[in-house]
Amino acid sequence: MTQEELFKILVAHCKEYGFIFPSSEIYDGLGAVYDYGQMGVELKNNIKMYWWEAMTRLHENIVGIDSAIFMHPKIWEASGHVSAFNDPLIDNKDSKKRYRADVLIEDYIGKLEDKIRKDVEKGKKKFGDAFDEEKFIETNPNCIRNNAKIAEVKKRMADALNANDLEALRQIIIDCEIVCPISGTKNWTEVRQFNLMFSTSMGSTAEGANTIYLRPETAQGIFVNYLNVQKTGRMKIPFGIAQIGKAFRNEIVARQFIFRMREFEQMEMQFFIKPGTELDWFAKWKENRLAWHKALGMGDENYRFHDHDKLAHYANAATDIEFRFPFGFKELEGIHSRTNFDLGNHQKFSGKKIEYFDPEIGESYTPYVVETSIGVDRMVLAVLSNSYKEEQLENGESRVVLSIPAPLAPVKVAVMPLLKNNQELVDLAQKIMDDLKYDYNCQYDEKDSIGKRYRRQDAIGTPFCVTVDHDSLEDGCVTIRHRDSMAQERVKIEDLNSIIGKEVSLNNLLRKLK
Ligand code: GAP
Repeated sequence: MTQEELFKILVAHCKEYGFIFPSSEIYDGLGAVYDYGQMGVELKNNIKMYWWEAMTRLHENIVGIDSAIFMHPKIWEASGHVSAFNDPLIDNKDSKKRYRADVLIEDYIGKLEDKIRKDVEKGKKKFGDAFDEEKFIETNPNCIRNNAKIAEVKKRMADALNANDLEALRQIIIDCEIVCPISGTKNWTEVRQFNLMFSTSMGSTAEGANTIYLRPETAQGIFVNYLNVQKTGRMKIPFGIAQIGKAFRNEIVARQFIFRMREFEQMEMQFFIKPGTELDWFAKWKENRLAWHKALGMGDENYRFHDHDKLAHYANAATDIEFRFPFGFKELEGIHSRTNFDLGNHQKFSGKKIEYFDPEIGESYTPYVVETSIGVDRMVLAVLSNSYKEEQLENGESRVVLSIPAPLAPVKVAVMPLLKNNQELVDLAQKIMDDLKYDYNCQYDEKDSIGKRYRRQDAIGTPFCVTVDHDSLEDGCVTIRHRDSMAQERVKIEDLNSIIGKEVSLNNLLRKLK
């Protein structure tokens, strides 16, 4: 099965098991907008809790806020979003389809990378154990040619984007003979800039209405509250402000399910620091955030840093933490050294002094900022795509299992009486459920055979199933079944809480983060 086919199956699975639905589905959906179902919302909340606690509980100098989505329109002028939050778009004249010029070029680079991967696979098969991948890539003529092409195209694209040279961007598409995936032709328009912010109006009459924007990032809500939090919280630099909330972007190339949405959620933290220390803090936050991801145990090899060739209008250093999604390594989180661009501009545009008096040096300055910014939905996709598995079992059957990191699993334990028409078993199962439900999200399930019930729980990623049988009534023990190994063991009912807790506890996960 190709990764693309697997991805389609995952999308269907998310719908079938109540994780993610297309928005407004009974009206045929709304492009790139999704709703979270009963399982999806639990997973999403667990991810948010893991991030929130890691930021605010583990760092005495980081506090959280929850700012409004509607903000004064001048904020978006000060932040540069009105003038610079644009995507370079190009249309194919035959299919009438619109694309992001940079994404077309990135896809072209992706195809060259695929070619290199295929040549490496062929080499592996041909040379067996004696195969040296590094040497092969360095010496194989196809790999040399494709790598050189990748380097050339990347450089041209970075130069064009940095210089905001739309004609140069178009020329790369022409020179690389990139065709429209729909019409297959190279009949392209000019490249134009397109602002990504959604606008609406505030006020009861059209004449009195003010155009306001739906925030395209949560970060600005933090910047404009910097003084409030610093003063009321008596915060001393360095300190951070964290926020989780919705953001909106009129993405033209909205695709790959919840990877690129028009309404999505961000978890952002702005860390306010002394000017000149930003690159040290940038390095520290890179390390800190990668450790947060790796602690989930989804495979260290599935993460990599990608330093930006083109810096955003506010940054003097930036990197992405990329994750290996089914469609390749893509950005999961951004870490940006934002200088004093935002606070400085808000000072200018609002006319309010936004400074910090540093008692250690006896001087005032506008703080610099290092930001960490991760999309909740992208994190959901990373977890789901990494955990989806189709397994062949020894008895000839197969199962679909979501091996979601246990602390993030929507349901932590399913409690099942062996038979639904035996009142004693049902009562004991209900009692166990009543004891566990204060600590964990539990499901009670009495329908169908035990095997079918296990499969249902595997499909939503429940780490533990607990079965109550006739012996339980006599010996006070139950069978606990582990999701990933499918191992079953007999344990005392009073030990259940600690056995489950060891694996699913968010606190234990947080303890891994030093
Ligand atoms: N405040 C900085 C900022 O917003 P960004 O790189 O544009 O930076 C940060 O976005 C993160 O938000 C991304 O790494 C990604 O996880 C998520 N994100 C951005 N656009 C998104 C979209 N259209 N759909 C889903 N997630 C998105």
